[in-house]
Amino acid sequence: MHKLGVLLSGRGSNFVAIAEHIASGKLRDCAIAAVISNLADAPGLAAARQRGLNAIAIEARGRKRAEHDAEIVACLREHQVDLVCLAGYMRLLSPGFVQAFPQRILNIHPSLLPAFPGLDAQTQAFDYGVQVTGCTVHFVDEQLDHGAIILQKAVPVRAGDDAHTLAERILEQEHIAYSEAIGRVVSGKYEVVGRRYLPKS
Ligand code: GAR
Repeated sequence: MHKLGVLLSGRGSNFVAIAEHIASGKLRDCAIAAVISNLADAPGLAAARQRGLNAIAIEARGRKRAEHDAEIVACLREHQVDLVCLAGYMRLLSPGFVQAFPQRILNIHPSLLPAFPGLDAQTQAFDYGVQVTGCTVHFVDEQLDHGAIILQKAVPVRAGDDAHTLAERILEQEHIAYSEAIGRVVSGKYEVVGRRYLPKS
C-alpha cells in the first residue's frame, strides 16, 4: 500500500478527486496518510477533515522556507508517506524538501508545460491566444514547473471561451489526469529516462 501525502493551499478539488478515485477503487494500492496545508483556513484542509483524514496545518508565516519545509518533511515521515502530491500547493519547495523525496514528489500544473509555467497559467494561455492548452502532471525538481512529465491532457480552446470557462474545462481534465499519473507512478512499471517517463522495457 502506497501512502500519499497531499499538500494544498486552496480549494482542494484535485485532492478530493484523488480521494474519490481511491474510494471508488479506480486508483488502487493507495491511501492518503496526511493532507497538509501552509494555510490553516484552506477549504481543502476542511474537506480532508470532513473525510476523516489527517488534516494538518503547518503555517509558513514569519518562517524561513527551509525551516518550514523541514517541518513538513518531518510530518510526512511521521505519517510514513512515500509519495508526495502537490495539489494546488502555492509555494516553491526548497532543495532540502525536493532531495528528501527523490522522484517521489508530483505536481499538477494547469497548462501544457513547458508553456506557461508559474501563476495563472490558464489566463496566460488564453491571453496568448493558444488554440490548445491542458494540464501536466510532472515530477518536482528544484526548478519551477520543470521536472520530467508523467502525463498531459490536452484541452481545446473554444470560440466562446473566456479564461474562466477554459480553466473549468482544464480542471475537469486535471481531476482525471492526477489519479492516472499517480497510478502510473505506483505501478512501478514506468521509469524516468532522461526527461521522458516511459514504460519499463
Ligand atoms: C489547480 O488548477 C492546479 O493545477 C493549480 O492550482 C489549482 C488548484 O485547484 N496549480 C498551480 O497553478 C500550480 N502552479 P484545487 O485546489 O481545486 O485542486
